[in-house]
Amino acid sequence: MSDDPEVLLDVKDLTVRFGVKRGGLFGEPKYLYAVDDISFQIKRGKTLAIVGESGSGKTTAALAVARLVEAYKGTVDLDGTDFLTLEDEDLRQARAKMQFIFQDPYSSLNPRVRAEKIVREPLDNLESGAKEDRQQIVDKLFEAVGLHPEQQRLFPHQFSGGQRQRIGIARALATQPDLIICDEPVSALDVAVQAQILNLLRKLQTDFGLTFLFISHDLGVVQHMCDTIVVMYMGKVVEYADRLSLFNNPLHPYTVALLSAVPSVDKKRRAEMKRILIPGDPPDPLDLPKGCRFANRCPVAIERCKTEQPILNEVALGHQVACHLVDERAVSPLS
Ligand SMILES: Nc1ncnc2c1ncn2[C@@H]1O[C@H](COP(=O)(O)OP(=O)(O)O)[C@@H](O)[C@H]1O
Ligand code: SF4
Ligand SMILES: [Mg+2]
Repeated sequence: MSDDPEVLLDVKDLTVRFGVKRGGLFGEPKYLYAVDDISFQIKRGKTLAIVGESGSGKTTAALAVARLVEAYKGTVDLDGTDFLTLEDEDLRQARAKMQFIFQDPYSSLNPRVRAEKIVREPLDNLESGAKEDRQQIVDKLFEAVGLHPEQQRLFPHQFSGGQRQRIGIARALATQPDLIICDEPVSALDVAVQAQILNLLRKLQTDFGLTFLFISHDLGVVQHMCDTIVVMYMGKVVEYADRLSLFNNPLHPYTVALLSAVPSVDKKRRAEMKRILIPGDPPDPLDLPKGCRFANRCPVAIERCKTEQPILNEVALGHQVACHLVDERAVSPLS
């Protein structure tokens, strides 16, 4: 448990594995380590983003934090309580403090349920307060997310994608959570609508003092949206830094490559930065290399990278990197 009262969520050594293959009838089960020993902390009212390519383990990490998939190892401390070991009523109460906003506003809302009920459901489930009070909360939530009161009677298909995501957000806010986990909340939306939803999330964060765990494959989306960034690759954290350090001085070759592909990063810096393409494919998650998981794609890999796994090292204040070629001088091997 974190001693820092500012910390709302403290995730330590979180590991999630899926049993996927058996080598023949009597063979050992094979495990895919989708999340492999990751740790991070989020302070109250702040946003931490997890970024990485598809398949890096972002969604699994978020689901494990919320106990929507089972962690194999590790702890998730929410506001001083070990969330992963809670049971029954304690768990029900704690769950209300942590809500999820999903990527796809098309499939995450029940098509046969009216918008007002979708938003009210979490309150009904908690049986909190009188029915009329719950309706008042729903009215307020519709207003807070920029929907009209008349729209409460409509069904999900009668809304646009952006509006549907607003319903998802209103629903997530119903139980007055402290922490909102947003898994690619704007990836399914048009660019213009993306900006509206991101602005709404930022406004709600200020108005309600929310803490966000924000997941995206796109560093461009998180650059205006987060205080801290965790870069994941093949289940591992490869870089962990505050937003300014990460954008101004990306150190891990994978981060540098991700960043060089973001068109909206400011022009001057991009002019200095060559577009770095990452060749090849990630390794088979069921047959990971012994050394650095990025070695087969890394333009500066050395012999040691193939045999020894780099560990996450703090190379500058609050800036951690897992790469054999980055030391306390905090210079990227690609610069
Ligand atoms: N239920 C599951 N069973 C087996 N493998 C899974 C399951 N869910 C995810 N994975 C695997 O775990 C890895 C990480 O997936 P995911 O967390 O969805 O990554 P991301 O959200 O970063 O795209 C991938 O290799 C994926 O195929
Ligand atoms: S440890 Fe080696 S292979 Fe891995 S990122 Fe650093 S230089 Fe590249
Ligand atoms: Mg995902």
